[in-house]
Amino acid sequence: MALIKDEEINTIREQSDIVDIISQYLTLTKQGKNYVAVCPFHDDHSPSLVVSPEKQIFNCFTCRTGGNVFSFIMKYENVGFLEAVKMVADKVGYKINLDFVSANEKINQVDYEIMDLAKKYYLNNIFTEIGVSARKYLNSRKLGEDIIREFNLGLAPSSKNDLYKILIKKGYTVEKIEELGLINRVGLEVYDAFTNRIMIPIENLKGDVVGFSARIFNGETDAAKYINTRETPIFKKGQILFNFHNARKYIRNEKLCIIVEGNMDAINVSASGIKNVVALMGVALSLEQIKVIKRLNVPVVLMLDNDEAGLNATMKNGKLLQENGVIVKVIKLTGAKDPDEYIRIKGVDALKENIKYARNFIDFKLEFLKTNKNLENIDDLVNYVKEVINSLNNENDLTKQVVISKISKDYNIDYALLQNQINLMNVNHEIESSKKVKVKKYSKYELASAKVLYYMMNDAKYITIYKNKLGYLKERVERRLISEIIFYNNEHNSINLANFLTYIMEQQDLFEYVNQIISMNDENLNDDEFNNCIEIILKILKLDEINQLKEEIKKEMDVNKKVELISKLTELKKEV
Ligand code: UTP
Ligand code: MN
Repeated sequence: MALIKDEEINTIREQSDIVDIISQYLTLTKQGKNYVAVCPFHDDHSPSLVVSPEKQIFNCFTCRTGGNVFSFIMKYENVGFLEAVKMVADKVGYKINLDFVSANEKINQVDYEIMDLAKKYYLNNIFTEIGVSARKYLNSRKLGEDIIREFNLGLAPSSKNDLYKILIKKGYTVEKIEELGLINRVGLEVYDAFTNRIMIPIENLKGDVVGFSARIFNGETDAAKYINTRETPIFKKGQILFNFHNARKYIRNEKLCIIVEGNMDAINVSASGIKNVVALMGVALSLEQIKVIKRLNVPVVLMLDNDEAGLNATMKNGKLLQENGVIVKVIKLTGAKDPDEYIRIKGVDALKENIKYARNFIDFKLEFLKTNKNLENIDDLVNYVKEVINSLNNENDLTKQVVISKISKDYNIDYALLQNQINLMNVNHEIESSKKVKVKKYSKYELASAKVLYYMMNDAKYITIYKNKLGYLKERVERRLISEIIFYNNEHNSINLANFLTYIMEQQDLFEYVNQIISMNDENLNDDEFNNCIEIILKILKLDEINQLKEEIKKEMDVNKKVELISKLTELKKEV
């Protein structure tokens, strides 16, 4: 359990107004007694997210995301429960007790502590005697003391295992330190994993140091330019965007997220005052990273390296982002191999111009698809046109028309023919996307039990009716939820959904489940509907029993017993 008391969490929730908080992220429009917004959690085109000031909950009736103010912040900001509580507390100006840690957050607490110590150790080195040449190197790349401190750039010295000794002295185990990728063991010998390199700490989305990217700086040519922390329990490349934690608020202010390839690019672009920048860890975005970007709800500018790999990565990542509903723009830098070099050669203002006039992704695609093709050649031209048409998949109708009209003119191809191809593609695409739709279909039972549970979480009187008339639900998770509902109601002598959600929050699966239930219900309660659901469930339970009995009858070998079972079955059938 959290060290922060439930009452305190509830106080924070009660001091906050969900409408107020959500309106800091989304544009809310009043509709009756509720507010509606375009849902940020799926590719929404018409407002399907509803916020209820009365109940202090929100839900999206399309993607079935819902919950209270904390759930919203967790989803939107991609943070854990306690982090969300902290953020809401901040927003309403509530001062939280400082020993605010929970079992949940503690899971990796020691890991973060160790990584933080390592960071401080490396940082400290760079400002001592042994750090002179590392600092010189960074200075030569226009990175002064302020940037070194801002990004906590450090130095791993050439010692065998100084970091290891320090961490052991602090009481951490060798297994733990090894698990975090900070050391390598060879037989009985222990070596620091990073030596003689400039250390760039890598933070997770919340800002904890989870790994390092380590660069050579003193002229060795045979070694890899960068060595990164291997995958560890806390370092998962696919979950990280370099500089995300720092950049987030600037991205929101600028309403733009700039994505570069290298960490050094992000550092340098940021150092030059363009702070809404993150770097890819590797080249292809993972689905998790895309989700994080999508939640920012702003257009993305891809500003990757000016080489073949960079172009391919632009195509691939741009496509992934676009498929997931993100608006994509592209910058192709000329005269430099990457943004870092571009700033050095052409200056920040030139880079800013590039950002301002970033091209639409479709422009990039039209050009990219020409690569390695000779459009004088019929086969190549046919392929090109096919590829262009296919790449229009996620573009809007107007763009599609503009593009085919351009292609029709440029290559003297019949417009109607191209239009026809597009229509064909649309049909295929619709089939495909109808397969993709994630909205769950619920069974009759699931719908009814979700209603019953929803009512019980809203008003204690339904708990009593449930106990008297039904007293049982099929699924284990439902029964667990019910025992929590009953427990909560006994403790507080009343129940309301928003507070109950807070209470349940640390049981991740139940919390998710309740959010799902919220999204399955509209908010008006009425006794008839509740009773009707109870009837439906009772009937389904009976039918289950009948089916089970039939199975037993099939299996039963003893004739007398079989007769007994059959008469029981007849009784049951009469009841339904
Ligand atoms: P780059 O070679 O483009 O890095 O690799 P960079 O940022 O321009 O580095 P500088 O300017 O030479 O210092 C882009 C990213 O690919 C990964 C790193 O994450 C790097 O930031 N990379 C590159 C490696 O992991 N290992 C390597 O040897 C090279
Ligand atoms: Mn570079």
